[in-house]
Parts: sequence; structure tokens; C-alpha cells
Amino acid sequence: MPFYLGLDTGTSGTKAILIDETGRTLATHTHEYDLSTPKPLWAEQHPDTDWWVAAQDAIQSVLAKAGATGSQVAAVGLTGQMHGSVFLDAHHNVLRPALLWCDARTGAECAEITEAIGGEAKLFGAIGQPVFTSFTAPKILWVRKHEPQVYEKVAKVLLPKDYTRFKLTSEFATEVSDASGTSLLDVRNRQWSQPMLDALQIPSDFLPPVYESTVVSGEITPEAAALTGLVAGTPVVGGGGDQAAGAVGCGIVETGRVSLSLGTSGVVFAHLDKPFFDPKAIQTFCHAVPGAFHLMGCVISAAGSFEWYKDTFAPDMTYDTITAGAATVPAGCEGLLFAPYLAGERNPYFDPQARGAFVGATLRTSSRDWFARAVLEGVSYGFKDLMTLLESSGAPINEVRVMGGGTKSDLWRQILSDVVGRSLHRVNNDEGPAFGAALLAMVGTNQYQSVPEASAATIQTTDETAPGANVDTYKKYYPMYRSLYPALKQTFADVAAATN
Ligand code: XUL
Repeated sequence: MPFYLGLDTGTSGTKAILIDETGRTLATHTHEYDLSTPKPLWAEQHPDTDWWVAAQDAIQSVLAKAGATGSQVAAVGLTGQMHGSVFLDAHHNVLRPALLWCDARTGAECAEITEAIGGEAKLFGAIGQPVFTSFTAPKILWVRKHEPQVYEKVAKVLLPKDYTRFKLTSEFATEVSDASGTSLLDVRNRQWSQPMLDALQIPSDFLPPVYESTVVSGEITPEAAALTGLVAGTPVVGGGGDQAAGAVGCGIVETGRVSLSLGTSGVVFAHLDKPFFDPKAIQTFCHAVPGAFHLMGCVISAAGSFEWYKDTFAPDMTYDTITAGAATVPAGCEGLLFAPYLAGERNPYFDPQARGAFVGATLRTSSRDWFARAVLEGVSYGFKDLMTLLESSGAPINEVRVMGGGTKSDLWRQILSDVVGRSLHRVNNDEGPAFGAALLAMVGTNQYQSVPEASAATIQTTDETAPGANVDTYKKYYPMYRSLYPALKQTFADVAAATN
């Protein structure tokens, strides 16, 4: 039986998964790395010493764990953190660490881009959404402005998974779902936007060819085979940005299905057969399902906030003991609120200067458990913001599925269900984007004829978390959470000015 390998160049590590054609997971392996934050608002990783080293180890280890050989792998699918920018010179050497999706240094460049294209309406005409610090184009402009000695050597700009593709296949290629997050793709027409490239004076040959996500974009080279244990000539399929690939892995492949992803970032994702552009706040990107689109809203620090909480306040505890403590605190934390804007916020505020905040502590707020629960609730209120945007877009919502590390916690799933007021379904795999990338590899090599067919054959819902007794409590506190950002906005701006 053929096996399929999915590889996720993620933010906390690179994960490889090996599955068979029925979708059964044979093994997974994650090689972790750190995030470098050399200055406030900056977030970087090194494509070679972080990602490529990790990719080699993850592939070798997943094959070893499964007791498989490279010759059993019929195809590879790639996914990864979106938006990050890898700058290569003409000899294909990495010029500087990659600027990541959670890097917020490019506020000025976002404004310059909107002005260069001729204002918000023109921007919408070209790419279908506003530009935000996470996205790729402002990163290119930042390097041009602040590191001209680097910029003059740039020959290619690649997204994280597409650098991994280059190392595996020697091919430059991307696909529509990840390219949608560059601010350089004409999302309606699924091709690079010449008006954007012209307005920003970015040479079109900086960018690789863009394909649909199931297209075979290259083959494993002999050099990569020697380093990974794969076999030279194995096809590598386009894959998808981590949100689109994760949605495929969770079965979000038809209109009416929506997912909430509680990973480092938090994402609400709705499949669309036809594009819908919302100038107010929610993004429309191409889906990894050929010809389809999706609506997406993102809170930048979701499980990332909980990880920050653990590292900062409870390094002596496990996630399970932290959530067990949080479960002893009354819902709503007697008004202790957490604003999860640790790395700025994307939706609904588009504010890279926003910061995290605890508000409402009293003398009774006297153990870490209170703050832990406030973090779980604050992130869930962020998801409520995203669901509100999605609901107001009019997109049909028939079923909501959840995925991501945070949803393994029964407490957090229940809080999330209570706060958004919807039943949340889990599916029979919790391997996320890497699983979706492996499914895309199956479709790309004709194991299945379409992404929905692959999804129907391999993904089923398993359990459901319904809104419970605390719904009214969260309805009471949510407006107070909503009032935090407007109240603190000027303070965030002042603090940013004082620290930059
Ligand atoms: C999506 C986004 C993040 C990254 C990292 O727009 O910025 O989800 O892809 O996971």
C-alpha cells in the first residue's frame, strides 16, 4: 500500500506525518525550534538552520518511527506557516533570517503600500483585502528601505514551505492558498497581481510560478534524497498555507463548513465556492481546493497566549495541571479579563501596536489559576470577534469543526463553545495542516480524484461539545472584553512610541 508524507514548516517546529491511502496515521515526528525576537515587534527564524535542518530530521524520523522506507512514499505534500519571507540571492543562498507572520515591524510599509496602489479601493480591486504587517509585501518593502545592502542582492522571495520545496526539489514554485497571504496575489483570478507589482516596484521574477494546490510542482532531487531518506524522483505536490491545508485536514471542503483552529494563532475559516470580498475586516483567500475560496479571520496569539502564560508564569506546571487549576475558578473570573494582543492583533483591529493586558484584578485574584482561566477566556472572546465577523458576512454556517493543540483541552473547548454559542465538532485526526498536505499529495497523484473525495474517504466527525451552563455568564462579560481595545488603543500607541 502506498504511503503519503505531509510536511509542515510550522512556527514552533517542523512536523512530518506519514499516512496510508485510507488516511490512517502511521507516524508523526516534530522537530522543534525557537522564535527569535531580536527587537520589540520582530519575529524571525532561519530557513536553513531552523527549517531545513528540522525538515531533514522530521522526514528521517517519521520514516524510522513508521518502519517505512522512502520507496514506500508515493508523494509528498507541503504546508507551513504563512506570510513569512525568505530572501535568496542569485546563487540561492539565504540572505537574512526570514521575517515571520507574527512579525509586526512593518506598520509604516503597510500604509505606504495602500498609498502606492492609489488607496483602499484600488487595493481591494487588486488583491481583495487590506494589507497587514503579517503579510509578505510589506516585509519586502521593509528590507528594501532598512537593509538596502541585502535588498540589492535579492533574486527570489519565497514563503516558508516553498523554501522547503526548493531544498527538496530545486524548483521554485508556490500555490494559490499561501500566495493569497502575500498581498501580491490577485485572489479573484488566482494569479500574481501585475498592478501591485508595478505599484510597489517589485520585480515579477522575485516570485515563483503559482499553481493550484494539488499540482505536482517538482520531484525529490538525489541530494535531498540522500539527506532525508526519500527516493529521488518522488513527486512533491503544491500543498497549502497552514490554514488552508489544516482546513482540508479537518474536512472544510464544502460551503457551510467552518473551522476554528486553536493553534499558535487562532483562525476562523469558512469554505466558499465563490469569492466574497468584505472591505470591512475579514480576509478572502484562495482555498487549497482547486477553484474554491475561503473566508478567514485571525487572532494572532491564541494557543500562543497560553504558551506565553505557561512559559512566563507557570514553567513548573504542565498544560494539564494549569487547566485543572483554571477549572476551579468561576466562569468569567469575577471580571478578570485578558486581552490577548501579545503580538498586535489582526482581526478585527488590524493594529500591530496592540499589546496584551490583564484588567480587573482584585485582592481576591490571588492565585495563578485565575490568570490562567482569564487567558483561556480572553482568547475565546477573540474567537467570538472572528465569528461575529463571519456571521455578518452572511456566509452559511452549517457545522463548526475545531482543530489545533488548544482544543485537546476539554475545559478550553467548553469555554470556546460557551463563548461563541455553537456546538463544536472534532474529527478523527488531530494532526492538522500536515495531514491536509498529505491528502493534497494523494489528490495530486490521482489516489483520489478531488479534495472533497479524499476528505470524504478519510475524515469523519467524532465528538461534539455543545454550549453549556456558562453561556449567559460569557454573554455578560463579552461586551466588557470588547470595550478593552478602544479604551487602551491610545495607550498602546503611546507605549509603542515610547519603546521604538
Ligand atoms: C494565517 C497566519 C497564521 C500563520 C501561522 O494568516 O498568519 O496562522 O499561518 O500559523
